[in-house]
Amino acid sequence: MLSETGTQFFGYYPGTVALVTAEHGSVRNVMAAGWHTALSAQPPLYGVLIGRERATHALVAGSGTFGINFLPATHARAVQGTGVLSLHDLNPAEADKLSRLGLTTLPDAPLALTDAYLYYRCRVIQTVPTGDHDLFVGEVLEVRHDPALYDDRRLFTGQAPVYLGRSSYVKTTQERESYVPESFE
Ligand SMILES: Cc1cc2nc3c(=O)[nH]c(=O)nc-3n(C[C@H](O)[C@H](O)[C@H](O)COP(=O)(O)O)c2cc1C
Repeated sequence: MLSETGTQFFGYYPGTVALVTAEHGSVRNVMAAGWHTALSAQPPLYGVLIGRERATHALVAGSGTFGINFLPATHARAVQGTGVLSLHDLNPAEADKLSRLGLTTLPDAPLALTDAYLYYRCRVIQTVPTGDHDLFVGEVLEVRHDPALYDDRRLFTGQAPVYLGRSSYVKTTQERESYVPESFE
């Protein structure tokens, strides 16, 4: 049964965590974002909320481009690491979060993480201030997926890390229940 609590009860997880990649000038970065969503199918739009103090914010605002990556559960530690480490805090000798966390990118797609099962490349078409974050609305210019982790109906068959909050993750399983439209007639 529901019980009333404060307006700051951030109990809306479980949810997936997107890794936002961005590059501007000679600086690249990656950060965890639990606040991300599809916004439109036609045109394809994807949104992510980024706090203005994040190092990634300046890179996305400056370049007008961001990547959205989803990594499998085998990489949950790295996912969390991108949300705990900030480029602002790294000393110059280790100031690359990707290499620090063992993440690599594709040679022909610098914002795509090599081990991602899904990747979107987005061009910022709108920036909407929302309280202490900015919503970056991205037009999806490119999508890549790992066919080894999808079935012929494009349903994900791998294990995804699902964020529970408080640095904790569980994995999706391969058990499924499907409720086809006909079952509601
Ligand atoms: C699981 C998780 C989800 C997060 N979601 C968001 C988010 O949606 N938006 C945001 O601005 N920060 C989010 N953060 C915090 C940033 O990822 C964190 O501040 C990160 O260190 C920023 O890195 P940067 O300063 O190098 O850009 C999240 C952190 C974690 C661990």
